[in-house]
Amino acid sequence: MFKGKKRRLILAIESSCDETSVAVVEDGTKILSNIIASQINSHKRFGGVVPEVASRHHVEQIIGCMEEALVEAKVSVTDLGGVAVTYGPGLVGALLIGVTAAKSFAWANQLPLIPVNHMAGHIYAARFVDEFQFPVMALLVSGGHTELVYMKEHGSYEIIGETRDDAAGEAYDKVGRVLGLSYPSGKEIDEMAHLGADTYHFPRAMMKEDNFDFSFSGLKSSFINLVHNAEQRGETLIPVDLAASFQHSVVDVLTAKTIRACRDYQVNQLIIAGGVAANKGLREKMTEDLAVQLPTVKLTIPPLNLCGDNAAMIGAAGFIEANKQHFARWDLNAKPSLTLA
Ligand code: KG4
Ligand code: ZN
Repeated sequence: MFKGKKRRLILAIESSCDETSVAVVEDGTKILSNIIASQINSHKRFGGVVPEVASRHHVEQIIGCMEEALVEAKVSVTDLGGVAVTYGPGLVGALLIGVTAAKSFAWANQLPLIPVNHMAGHIYAARFVDEFQFPVMALLVSGGHTELVYMKEHGSYEIIGETRDDAAGEAYDKVGRVLGLSYPSGKEIDEMAHLGADTYHFPRAMMKEDNFDFSFSGLKSSFINLVHNAEQRGETLIPVDLAASFQHSVVDVLTAKTIRACRDYQVNQLIIAGGVAANKGLREKMTEDLAVQLPTVKLTIPPLNLCGDNAAMIGAAGFIEANKQHFARWDLNAKPSLTLA
């Protein structure tokens, strides 16, 4: 794919949810630019992402982001070797803007088109920090996903466990609404949790069960019931303690099950990825517990700015796909329910 090119450069496009992002990545491991236009202020007043609003923003932002990414990376179109794009999972209208922009740009400039799974992108954000040491276990925690993914080599994914109901980020956002916080509330709950203590002792769902699945809807219900009952009785609850109790429950289960999966599958490296990987409580507990229980397993967590949605991670995953000669045809379509395996 990079024949005749001096450098191995990929232009990457991400538009699966509420971030329009375009990046230029070299060798799959070096970020030359990573432009992110967030729409979060437009969605906040609705308490969640409104798909039609998201699509409209992507249309408005995408061309400017593409131009800016090339300028910031100081490369021209003729330097590029290919165009990588997220084609799923995500909001269909949002995905279609990125896919259409990528197809048009690649066609016009005679560049190969590389289809990328958004969740693979989240995992590959870790490759900007450390080279992968297979076998790898990845804990994928975002607004829509909570999965344990086993990788024996690049681009190979086996989902060994997943949530049976809500995703971890979704639980954070729903609980945040009950606490009167604005969307998305993961970051704010994380900050509050560090000021409080685990005094309400919520359940640790499925922690001891002999599988690698998760469940967060029972925790969410316990939380909502506690708050409603207190309101009816006129009792006051302590918000920072509520946040700390909720966070401890989520983090305890994620950490215990992930470390057990690492042990059972005898992996060399653990990657934590997705928006919830930005959680300080999760980062701290996983680092501490892994060091004690499995000190030989290397822990890699992307820096905060690469945990959320961004196109650089799509460029990193796209580089792997391109090396495997996985290219898309010109009829590539958005796949809202695309899975990793
Ligand atoms: O990966 P992401 O940016 O988008 C999806 O692909 O879903 O993840 C967004 C999710 C939201 O639910 C947000 O509340 C959560 O990540 N999040 C956090 C933190 N920062 C973002 N959850 C817990 N703690 C955080 N610090
Ligand atoms: Zn994401």
